[in-house]
Amino acid sequence: AKILLLNGPNLNRLGQREPGLYGMQTLGDIEQRLQQQAAEAGTDFACLQSNAEAALIERIHQGAEEGVDMILFNPAAFTHTSVALRDALLAVDTPFIEIHLSNIWAREAFRHHSYFSDIAVGVISGLGAQGYDLAMQAALARLAADRA
Ligand code: DQA
Repeated sequence: AKILLLNGPNLNRLGQREPGLYGMQTLGDIEQRLQQQAAEAGTDFACLQSNAEAALIERIHQGAEEGVDMILFNPAAFTHTSVALRDALLAVDTPFIEIHLSNIWAREAFRHHSYFSDIAVGVISGLGAQGYDLAMQAALARLAADRA
């Protein structure tokens, strides 16, 4: 089984970027922890952060070729703008969990709409970096249930 973690624009600045909103953990901390959780469960893991929509789209397509079973995705600002990323996920038909560090519904009105939530397996928003761990836990449980 294989899980792919994708992070969108500006999330490379986690730890420095608006820490009151997004926390102190760096993306490297989060990726390393999830890598370890996947390894403990005997599951393959890959991750990509990109500030470019095209790179994220290409990685989603490539993931389908590699047989990725589940994507954990924080599309960041693309959440609210990207029909192209939505279509990429629909095109590969890979189940995904949408993650946001902050509670997008408690913020500006333009963040209340997501192009992903209605096609996601589930959405985690507002629980900070822990949201990634919870998403990983849910993904591993689903993959184990699929195998059983
Ligand atoms: C975010 C929320 C988005 O609205 C914002 O553009 C981000 C991060 C979050 O994780 O809370 O870049 O996805």
